[in-house]
Amino acid sequence: MHKEFQDAAAGFPDPFRLLVRETAASTNDELRTLAEGGAPDGLVLLALQQTAGRGRRGATWFSPPGESLAFSILLKPSEPKALWPRLALATGLAVAEAAESFGPAAGIKWPNDVWIGRRKLAGILVEAGKDYAIVGIGMNVNSSAFPPEVAEIATSLRIETALDHPRHEVLAAIIHSFARRCREIGADFDHMLDCVRQRCVLTGHRVSLSTSSGPRQGVIEGIAPGGELLLRTESGLDRLIQADEVRILE
Ligand code: BTN
Repeated sequence: MHKEFQDAAAGFPDPFRLLVRETAASTNDELRTLAEGGAPDGLVLLALQQTAGRGRRGATWFSPPGESLAFSILLKPSEPKALWPRLALATGLAVAEAAESFGPAAGIKWPNDVWIGRRKLAGILVEAGKDYAIVGIGMNVNSSAFPPEVAEIATSLRIETALDHPRHEVLAAIIHSFARRCREIGADFDHMLDCVRQRCVLTGHRVSLSTSSGPRQGVIEGIAPGGELLLRTESGLDRLIQADEVRILE
């Protein structure tokens, strides 16, 4: 198992390198510890079994061993820290592109969930440290069923294609796409954003969501030049830099 991943990592673009752990509580947390100890830009930490995976807003992220991917990427971007939140969109795009290389069209649920149809294929958790960012990715690859709590909202590459996919190949596809997209948060952001817009599953839909100033409803008009979500409400057009619990109503 390790060997397949290590062989795939031999073809990673610079500066990406792979470290495989049999077990990790959360790859984001373990990579943060490595980053604080001076680990280099581009280190990818993959856990064959992740026992305490974290999602956004403190949620638990469940990664069934053997059928999913749970890994984190350490980045030391040269762009100003104010632009690092764009990594969420860059990562969502990279994961969607990688998924598509295995068959199904993939969408981005702003800011960074990856969907196939109306179901979640992958979740992304970007966290910033002092001079580094940790990009955590959890993807359902060969799962054929999910726990009841998520059975209605989750999917996997296997469910969508009726095929098993070697996880090391999926990992390599994500890293290749990510290596390109993570460099587009500065000067090339407009171009990257156009690719995100083409995959935005929320555009044109009425949604409900929660913001720091309370719940909102409206129609999503798209994504603004800075990456914000454009929400049309009765009182005007809002540019949201953050929103949770985004639900499509119609
Ligand atoms: C979400 O959809 O809420 C984000 C899920 C992110 C899960 C990944 S799995 C690898 C990395 N380690 C973690 O603890 N979380 C991320």
